[in-house]
Amino acid sequence: MKKVGFVGWRGMVGSVLMERMRSEGDFGDIEPVFFSTSQTGQPGPDVGRAVPALQDAHDMAALSEMDAIVTCQGGDYTSAVYDPLRSAGWQGYWIDAASTLRMKDHSVIVLDPVNAGVIRQALADGTRTFVGGNCTVSLMLMAIGGLVEHDLVEWIAPMTYQAASGSGAQHMRELLRQMGYLRDAVGERLDDPAAAILEIDRDVTAALTGGDYPAEHFGVPLAGSLIPWIDKPVAGGQSREEWKAGVETNKILGRQFDPIAIDGLCVRIGAMRSHAQALTLKLKRDVPLDEIEAMLAAANDWVRVVPNEPQPSQQQLTPAAVSGHMHVPVGRLRKLAMGDEYLSAFTVGDQLLWGAAEPLRRMLRLVIG
Ligand code: HSE
Repeated sequence: MKKVGFVGWRGMVGSVLMERMRSEGDFGDIEPVFFSTSQTGQPGPDVGRAVPALQDAHDMAALSEMDAIVTCQGGDYTSAVYDPLRSAGWQGYWIDAASTLRMKDHSVIVLDPVNAGVIRQALADGTRTFVGGNCTVSLMLMAIGGLVEHDLVEWIAPMTYQAASGSGAQHMRELLRQMGYLRDAVGERLDDPAAAILEIDRDVTAALTGGDYPAEHFGVPLAGSLIPWIDKPVAGGQSREEWKAGVETNKILGRQFDPIAIDGLCVRIGAMRSHAQALTLKLKRDVPLDEIEAMLAAANDWVRVVPNEPQPSQQQLTPAAVSGHMHVPVGRLRKLAMGDEYLSAFTVGDQLLWGAAEPLRRMLRLVIG
């Protein structure tokens, strides 16, 4: 049985990964060893089998004994540990949620329902470093993999509606604090039918713009507002999140030298843990809508095509409907006024499942044999 080390298993993505591995019975097929940056020597977590005491996550000798290491500890940890470990000759599989190594030539971004062929080839070529993709990228590809597979896509403009969870656990708490703060600013007048809505709104606006609004983590209001910039700026006025859409998608598909043009705007909204995105796609040719729907539905076991009608769209194509679920709905499919090759789509998916933990879990399954 392969020895698999886990780092960062207590954080948000790590906890979702543990939950998924427990429910799929993955711990029965490996010898798990849990590492910690702060609690070396304490008992390991309950994963349904005996595990050794927590090991030091910076102990190179202990890490070197692993056949595979799965880390959700974050980019700083990867930067501190990965190079020294490889330089010391460790040849195990490194499976990482952080973006640090994603664009390195020696790594592969994993999303096996979409790029199983790329992963298989990389394993055959001796690749040992596998990284989960950016959440919006993975979720977009789970939704529209069928069109990519049929080489129908000329370009994509994704406009995202990203949940607070993409920023981290503290941000999710802050979103709730912000919601409560706005509710409290209005108080009992909310239940008073005689209260004037414009007065209520004036109080909400005063709360949103006042100095006491809880925005320590986001820096600005998210509840009652939105944030049209995610991550740092890169060249050309793009945000880093927007840059990732193009480079990561093409790397996942193994199309770095024949890239699909992908560019749009990334926006944070007040959803908790599921990202949504509106896509405009330019197809290489005019394909009838029913054929498009059939290709999308057949691409993997998790995509669900939602009829482009009011009720199914309102009920199935939302963060509220999909949070905590593995399926990835895609709908609002229609040809746009610009021409028959222009397609709209709207898709939503759990940011912590297919957006983060699940591709890592499945990659581990591939390497443990
Ligand atoms: N960068 C993403 C976000 C997180 O901010 O929503 C997951 O890749």
